[in-house]
Amino acid sequence: MATATSTATSVAAALLLSLLLARARGDDDYSGFVYAGCSQGRYASGTQYASDVDSVLTSVANSAPYSPYANFTSPTSNSVVGVYQCRSDLPASVCTGCVRSAISRLSSLCAWATGGAVQLRACFVRYGNDTFLGKQDTAVLFKKCGGSPGDAGGAAMRDSALGALVAAAAPAGGGYRAGGSGGVQAMSQCVGDLGAKACSDCVSAAAGQLKAGCGYATAGEVYLGKCYARFWGNGGGGFSSGAAGDAYGSGHRVSGNRFVLAVAGGFFTSLAYIFVLM
Ligand SMILES: *[C@@H]1O[C@H](CO)[C@@H](O)[C@H](O)[C@H]1NC(C)=O
Ligand SMILES: *[C@@H]1O[C@H](CO)[C@@H](O)[C@H](O)[C@H]1NC(C)=O
Repeated sequence: MATATSTATSVAAALLLSLLLARARGDDDYSGFVYAGCSQGRYASGTQYASDVDSVLTSVANSAPYSPYANFTSPTSNSVVGVYQCRSDLPASVCTGCVRSAISRLSSLCAWATGGAVQLRACFVRYGNDTFLGKQDTAVLFKKCGGSPGDAGGAAMRDSALGALVAAAAPAGGGYRAGGSGGVQAMSQCVGDLGAKACSDCVSAAAGQLKAGCGYATAGEVYLGKCYARFWGNGGGGFSSGAAGDAYGSGHRVSGNRFVLAVAGGFFTSLAYIFVLM
């Protein structure tokens, strides 16, 4: 397990390295994989539950061109719920492609799991029969800090950029917030089932994680159950371009290998979900 975990960590680091480099070049890979989790509970093919999962995920895919967020509930007693949330500042075409890709990841990573969630760079999709809709969830699911070593001045700008996210007015139709301070940019995105106050609380928890856990790192991102936040240097004030440097080492190629590990806390363990890193 220790070996599997450290291998998974280095693969995750290599993955993040490539993501940070992609973003530094300004061509974020919108369908890039961040994390996934699947319930341990299973359903059988050909059952009503199977057709309920199909039906909510089909509704999710069909809705993505029209809205950055929606939820769907199967009309049967299984009460399978599906939700998706796209980064609401991006065009509908990006959302549509990302959600399709997320559903295809779910069907391969979480095949026959009664519940599953996947986060890609530009969208999040979750389904299951547990009652997660409309509930706050600030459990930390994935967190990375990196970039070239910064300094106290940069960390102060980061704190201020993250503070701007928390203070941002309740966004109309989306839950995306952006903020900046000096050489640091930040963004956050809530899942649309949270109200404005719950979204602010979630972003505040995410910002707290980044402030407390990223030291003088010049880039970082944290994904909680119902929101995520990222910050990166844009080249000024002691923060470099946001490209990951020595912090992650180099030379690991992200392959098709899949690593599975359990994380402490959060809906993955509380509902016996298994966390998947690729
Ligand atoms: C979810 O569905 C699974 C499979 O049908 C079932 O075993 C489980 O009890 C259900 N959970 C809830 C909360 O209804
Ligand atoms: C779920 O979707 C319905 C129908 O669009 C909507 O009225 C409701 O507000 C949504 N619930 C949440 C918690 O987002």
